[in-house]
Amino acid sequence: MTNDPYAASARAYDLFSAAARPGQSAALAAVLARLQPPAGPILDIGAGSGALSADVLDALPDARVVALEPSPAMRSLMLSRVAARPDWHRRITVRPEDFFSATLPARLGGALAIGVLGHFDPGERAAVLAELAARLPRDGVALLDLQHPERPTRVEPYEFTAVTVGDLTYRGIAEARPVDTELMRWRMTYLSLEGERVLTEETVEFDYRHPAPAVVAMEAASVGLLLTGLRDTFWVAERA
Ligand SMILES: C[S@@+](CC[C@H](N)C(=O)[O-])C[C@H]1O[C@@H](n2cnc3c(N)ncnc32)[C@H](O)[C@@H]1O
Repeated sequence: MTNDPYAASARAYDLFSAAARPGQSAALAAVLARLQPPAGPILDIGAGSGALSADVLDALPDARVVALEPSPAMRSLMLSRVAARPDWHRRITVRPEDFFSATLPARLGGALAIGVLGHFDPGERAAVLAELAARLPRDGVALLDLQHPERPTRVEPYEFTAVTVGDLTYRGIAEARPVDTELMRWRMTYLSLEGERVLTEETVEFDYRHPAPAVVAMEAASVGLLLTGLRDTFWVAERA
């Protein structure tokens, strides 16, 4: 990947995503008991810096994880996290391919798709759901998020995170505009500051899809998955 869209956020991803972490952890905690490690590994699609994979490995000692992370920058963060835990090395595989390039495990004990579903167009989304449905055990679950806004709309610039580490503060600013009935174009600015003085600043733009939950529920139902709301932006797709 020569032009890595996640390179800018990966400069300090765990800081820039800090505000989102408690919600993610709570959502994962709510489905942990429904993951089924004996049935197969837990698939973490778009695993980022590996925070959720780490939570699974820590919480479920018999779980194995297959993490897909195509961004080289993000994957570096994840592999650093994994390198620091030799006790995980037999339990996690970090694959560099995207969802459609990777050889997926034949059977899964569960799946996570957090912050990633919007990268798939409707056809790809249907294919992702079908691949999960074909691999999850009976009553098996995938934890998904459908990020706000629920429908494309103008989002004025807002600070989504600000974390101070030592003398520096890491700030993230997001804004977005609707492109069509599902697609939005986000503009993200990642800064590090010493007081008011900007030390580093990077802005990236990318498209992200915001399908209505009812649309995803229909897509899921068509492959035998029942989509139910968990909390906030989090949803569970269960193999009925
Ligand atoms: C917003 S980050 C979320 C990371 C992590 N799941 C979290 O919640 O902290 C989205 C991740 O999805 C990855 N991604 C994008 N397209 C993908 C695809 N087609 N297959 C797998 N991962 C993908 C990106 O590289 C990025 O690391």
